[in-house]
Amino acid sequence: MANKQFDVVVIGAGPGGYVAAIRAAQLGLSTACIESESYADPKGEVRLGGTCLNVGCIPSKALLRSSELFEEATHGFQMHGISAEGVKIDVGTMVKRKDNIVTQLTSGIKGLFKKNKVTMLPGRGKFLGREGDRWLVDVNGEAVEATHVIVATGSKARHLPDLPVDNKIVCDNVGALSFDNAPKRLGVIGAGVIGLELGSVWKRLGAEVTVLEVLPDFLAAADQAVAKEAWKVFTQKQGLNINLGVKIGKITAGKKGVSIEYESGDDSKTLEVDRLIVSIGRIPNTDGLGAENVGLAINERGYITVDGNCRTNLPNVWAVGDVVPGPMLAHKGMEEGVMVAECIAGQKGHVNHDTIPYVIYTHPEIAWVGKTEQQLKNEGVEYRAGQIPFAANGRALGQGDTTGFVKMLACAKTDRILGVHVIGASASELIAEAVVAMEFNASSEDIARICHAHPTLSEAMHEASLAVDKRPLHF
Ligand code: FAD
Ligand code: NAI
Repeated sequence: MANKQFDVVVIGAGPGGYVAAIRAAQLGLSTACIESESYADPKGEVRLGGTCLNVGCIPSKALLRSSELFEEATHGFQMHGISAEGVKIDVGTMVKRKDNIVTQLTSGIKGLFKKNKVTMLPGRGKFLGREGDRWLVDVNGEAVEATHVIVATGSKARHLPDLPVDNKIVCDNVGALSFDNAPKRLGVIGAGVIGLELGSVWKRLGAEVTVLEVLPDFLAAADQAVAKEAWKVFTQKQGLNINLGVKIGKITAGKKGVSIEYESGDDSKTLEVDRLIVSIGRIPNTDGLGAENVGLAINERGYITVDGNCRTNLPNVWAVGDVVPGPMLAHKGMEEGVMVAECIAGQKGHVNHDTIPYVIYTHPEIAWVGKTEQQLKNEGVEYRAGQIPFAANGRALGQGDTTGFVKMLACAKTDRILGVHVIGASASELIAEAVVAMEFNASSEDIARICHAHPTLSEAMHEASLAVDKRPLHF
């Protein structure tokens, strides 16, 4: 029998894992959470929070904010009659601010573990086998016993074959969040979420940014009207040089920069850059987990196979977050973590995967929930659409930020909302109303009958719902 025994052992302390651990402990289960990464902690101590807090959501949003302020000060003030000359950015200070936010939040999780009596076990977790009805997990050579195991080992950046990432010249998300200066010429491979968000950061700070994307369509997962508007703004107004449908060839990286050969249409081209971000998606982390020791099922794409309640093929072994199929989003992992903890405690845990919001934190922001117009067409669903530009919204005008629109799609027969798509200022916040509405099966008429404060950007959501019925009041 192992010295350490728990009701629940969670492997991985990212958003999926740490939330699952806290919820399990709140429900009275003795809980431990294993984490191996120190994420360049100055003292070399293990840090909680996973990719999201250390090298993902939080640091990227901190840098986005700094770069937006710089952009405002250099290009946005004039229209207000404000002149600010000699505005400069100290990238070192900006990165330090980001690091401080990360430290504050990751230590905050340690505090939450203490408060909720979650035992933190630093080290790598690995399945050893089963003893009776208990699982044995190795942590740094010591066996820990658990009735339930929740695997929340997350994901890591996918790299290109034969192109080592040094996170100085050739970077994945880790290096791209810690440049010591804005490169003069920045290359980005992959026009996905990271490419657009971090490409925007360094573009605002003065880099000439060239993005190379293999797919012929831009933002293929978004509603086409949104993708079209985003393309116009990013390429024409903001000057991001995005090349679609390219085939990457030989890449040569040296101490001073990177040379990328690629094919675009019938042309062979070469891009020379000082730094390169490789953002071509992420792969689930199952290396060294000991899945083979216990027969944990992993699918052909490397994800742990789970059912709708995140149960794996093994009794009392669960998996949540980026390591299971579905969108790789922190809030999706957290919801799954809560659901699993509640199922273990005998409650009815539940995640509605159809109402998970997607947000891209560019400027303008892009956010959506539910189906796109092209999905509804492909599925042969009859729908009505209402679309309202922010140019018709008083608050947006006052803020001097009128790019974009809100688009609502509702079932032609029942009026139930099927999808909402926003591109514009604060889209990340506005989408919450649509998520609530869809979670409660609301109709566009329901939104139309709700009083929205004036003047707010949320009135565009209200007007879009009226536009579904072809009766907007202010457009
Ligand atoms: P992770 O956060 O990856 O955590 C897993 C943890 O498990 C890691 O700390 C790892 O060290 C640990 N681990 C792995 N194997 C073991 C083992 N055997 N033993 C012990 N520990 C182990 N999502 C959003 O929703 N919004 C955003 O704005 C957003 N921005 C992002 C920006 C960037 C640059 C990146 C890279 C990602 C972003 N994401 C965002 C995605 C988000 O970070 C992930 O979806 C989320 O972190 C996944 O949570 P997780 O708990 O499944 O895994
Ligand atoms: P992504 O999946 O968003 O985009 C990757 C892009 O790279 C795709 O457009 C793909 O077609 C392209 N690509 C793939 N292989 C290529 C190749 N060989 N050459 C050129 N292009 C290629 O992945 P990304 O940006 O790396 O982000 C990873 C994940 O992290 C996202 O899927 C998302 O789940 C999460 N994330 C979420 C954020 C948010 O919610 N705001 C922000 C950043 C990341």
